[in-house]
Amino acid sequence: MPAAASERADLVENPAAARFEIIVAAFRARFGRPPVGLAEAPGRVNLIGEHTDYNEGFVLPVAIDRTVAIAFAPREDGRVRAHSLDFDQEDEFALADIGRREDDSWANYLRGVALVLQQAGHRLTGLDLVVQGEVPIGAGLSSSAALEVATLGAFATATGLALDDRDKALLAQRAENEFVGVACGVMDQMAAVFGRADHALRIDCRSLETEAVPLNLEAHGLRIVVANTGVRRALTASAYNQRRDECNRVVELLFVLLRGRRPRSLRDITLRDLTINGRFLPEDLLRRARHVVSENARVLATVDALAHGDLAEVGRLFYASHESLARDYEVSSPELDLMVELAGSLEGVVGARMTGAGFGGCTVNLVHADALDSFGEQVIEAYRARAGLPAEMYVCRAVDGLRIVEF
Ligand code: GLA
Repeated sequence: MPAAASERADLVENPAAARFEIIVAAFRARFGRPPVGLAEAPGRVNLIGEHTDYNEGFVLPVAIDRTVAIAFAPREDGRVRAHSLDFDQEDEFALADIGRREDDSWANYLRGVALVLQQAGHRLTGLDLVVQGEVPIGAGLSSSAALEVATLGAFATATGLALDDRDKALLAQRAENEFVGVACGVMDQMAAVFGRADHALRIDCRSLETEAVPLNLEAHGLRIVVANTGVRRALTASAYNQRRDECNRVVELLFVLLRGRRPRSLRDITLRDLTINGRFLPEDLLRRARHVVSENARVLATVDALAHGDLAEVGRLFYASHESLARDYEVSSPELDLMVELAGSLEGVVGARMTGAGFGGCTVNLVHADALDSFGEQVIEAYRARAGLPAEMYVCRAVDGLRIVEF
């Protein structure tokens, strides 16, 4: 049915409504019936707290206004048929027989979520799905977690499952760990579920307690700017797993050194422990541990500084985090360093640091609204000229996590 004139005017003024209208129309065209609902989950940018989540530490991500949206309707025959608008590809599988596709396809995230939900004891309905995403892929903004969480929302709603929010994040993470085969921590999926408009999310990755931290960006005249270095994260998987192993090894060594303390993870270690026992640790492992322990402290200090409106301190903590990731944790890259350096020399930039796993991907910047144009000209353009790479910037808003619209 064509939209009425008033509805069309609304679509022009409201790009989100226009986007959903396109997804719903694609669903009708593909499946010959309307969807019963739409599940939408955001990507994330991490303000601070990098490589701390798998060490049971603290993180401070923001769910961003780049989301994955899925239109869905149940099927009676236990099959899933999915269409990706971005890749113009189809996938079809039976819930009773889910295997991994060898082509590293977007469809593996759907398959993985359907499988872990069933392994957790839920009987699922079959689904028709249309998927559309606007989270840049491979940029370190968690397009995978957004896809997993949106898929989980679609299955849970169509099947009538009442899942606890923490379980949603943990099941989505399990799909990525066990089915897709990426050993990520829990931050990205937690952000995609628990994100809150205009807030960052302080997550204790040991207890999974979350606290929404007001950003008051408008009041400070600030914007969150994500700068994409244009380098895809190539090395990430192997180096990421290596860092995880190194952290586990250093905890084992400290377990022996700190007789009687029995640390379970780097969360249980203090900088003082490292000062006293550092000479007994291999030098690279000492640096890895120093990053994680100091980064946990920086997350808590950032939450404090935000609460007091102390932007100079927030900026200092951002740069200190970057330095620690570059020198001690060794997950930065020349491109990320250059992007941070260029941002740091621009007036109106409060702070800049690499965000996400590293080796490529994006930096996160807190920028005064009136310096946005100069950021584009003097940071992004200068970076393009010096690195010869197609950098981009995204000005992001903090949004709510998983959202379901039922028609
Ligand atoms: C990736 C992982 C997260 C987290 C970050 C580093 O984004 O998916 O779990 O470990 O790297 O902070």
